[in-house]
Amino acid sequence: MHAMDRPVVVLDFGAQYSKLIARRVREAKVFSLILPFNIPASELKAMDPAGIIFSGGPASVHAPGAPLPDPEVLRLGVPVLGICYGVQLFAHMLGGKVERPSRREYGIAHLEHADTTGLLSGVDPHTQVWMSHGDAISRLPNDFQAIGKTENCPYAAIANPAAKLYGVQFHPEVVHTPQGARILSNFVHTICGCESRWTMGSFIERAVQDIRESVGQKRVICGLSGGVDSSVAAVLIHRAIGDRLTCVFVDTGLMRKGESELVQQVFRDNFHINLDCVDAEDRFLDALAGVADPEEKRKRIGKLFIDIFEEEAERQGHMDFLAQGTLYPDVIESTSATGGPSAMIKSHHNVGGLPERMDLKLIEPLRELFKDEVRALGQELGLPDAIVWRHPFPGPGLGVRCIGAVTRQRLDTLCEADAIFAEEIQNEDLYREIWQALVCLLPVRSVGVQGDERTYEEVCVLRAVTSEDAMTADWYRFPPEVLQRIANRICNEVKHINRVLYDVTSKPPGTIEWE
Ligand code: XMP
Repeated sequence: MHAMDRPVVVLDFGAQYSKLIARRVREAKVFSLILPFNIPASELKAMDPAGIIFSGGPASVHAPGAPLPDPEVLRLGVPVLGICYGVQLFAHMLGGKVERPSRREYGIAHLEHADTTGLLSGVDPHTQVWMSHGDAISRLPNDFQAIGKTENCPYAAIANPAAKLYGVQFHPEVVHTPQGARILSNFVHTICGCESRWTMGSFIERAVQDIRESVGQKRVICGLSGGVDSSVAAVLIHRAIGDRLTCVFVDTGLMRKGESELVQQVFRDNFHINLDCVDAEDRFLDALAGVADPEEKRKRIGKLFIDIFEEEAERQGHMDFLAQGTLYPDVIESTSATGGPSAMIKSHHNVGGLPERMDLKLIEPLRELFKDEVRALGQELGLPDAIVWRHPFPGPGLGVRCIGAVTRQRLDTLCEADAIFAEEIQNEDLYREIWQALVCLLPVRSVGVQGDERTYEEVCVLRAVTSEDAMTADWYRFPPEVLQRIANRICNEVKHINRVLYDVTSKPPGTIEWE
């Protein structure tokens, strides 16, 4: 890490909002990292953080096994901001008192303040904040002062400026606290003294330098999928090491319409990246012949993908590194101190196991970034909107959207319907508002009538969802006339479909994909 990037560290006490806090700090152009709550103070000190934020969390400080930080963290001399549970920790650890008040506070409250410590400077003296807590501080620890209150919470914001400890009972990171960004900015800029240096431009410079240092004169192989993460990783690495990067694009025949052409045009023609395109449609169709079970399909697609990738990697001569577009949420998820890896719901398709077998080292240049930052980076690197804003697409592709057995004809039918759905969403200018839109072809036929003739054809279902991170999702409320137009177009233009349904299931209980 470079000296200018002293991070603001978010200690995660199990809050659903930890990631949001880190994002808000980065939006204030300061580098931020999330670490487990119990990291030893000595390790934290070695990172030389400019500031520390204690996140909220669902526990009560009095509960047995409540997550507590190393007490030395409060004595590092580094400014600390406690949020919700995080501020209750000050009271609990420094001699104040935390109790369950008679009235709990959930939702919108009104903060009143006349703060002079800097934390709330520039914040309106009366402003809306978002509360969500069971316990509250009932007696301040020594040397703390109340700097803001709400109707039910006399210690809504507190400070001990001499010790550089600050805290808020409400959540400044959520949108329902309209001036919350200002509070976090005051903390990181005024109190911690950070400069606004975390920009995509500075990230590119640093990342290019790091990639050059770690790769040296060696060679990197990168699997391109057409999605934003692998695309951005490839272009960034290419900027650092040019021709020593080789990209492999496996056309599984399970891609969206025009995807293979787009990848070739962007990477080979525009960026002049060494690109190895493998047409493997026949092999995937053979592997899927007669298979209807979703997990079995996923396994076969995943295995064949790895086999082909490995063959290509060998054909390209000796490689030293495998590039992957791993993002920060994946890194946090797999290391979180409070939540273990979540239960496997569907087997995911990636090149797991390959690095060990082929003796490749991993290079993951996006592992510090959130999805929206990856998009900003892609834009800065000159990738077209069609890639930067592309909806997520599962590795097994249309294979898991062609419900039941996959045949070439059914895939063609699905691909056409999917393209019409995407085109209409683009025409309505809704593409970015929707997290993901997809079509599934069902293993059911239905009777219809077209031009006086009875038909007996395939049924498709449209699914469009809004989401923050794909962990939860809600179905998108299209205006009915838009749905009507899409259904008309699909029935009229796609051979073999005579009925269109719309999926109104949220996640949970449904997943986004059907298989
Ligand atoms: P589900 O269907 O579990 O999907 O709600 C959540 C998100 O993950 C995508 N997805 C995948 N992505 N490989 C991927 O790279 C996969 O095997 C895979 N399966 C699902 C899905 O499209 C959604 O965005």
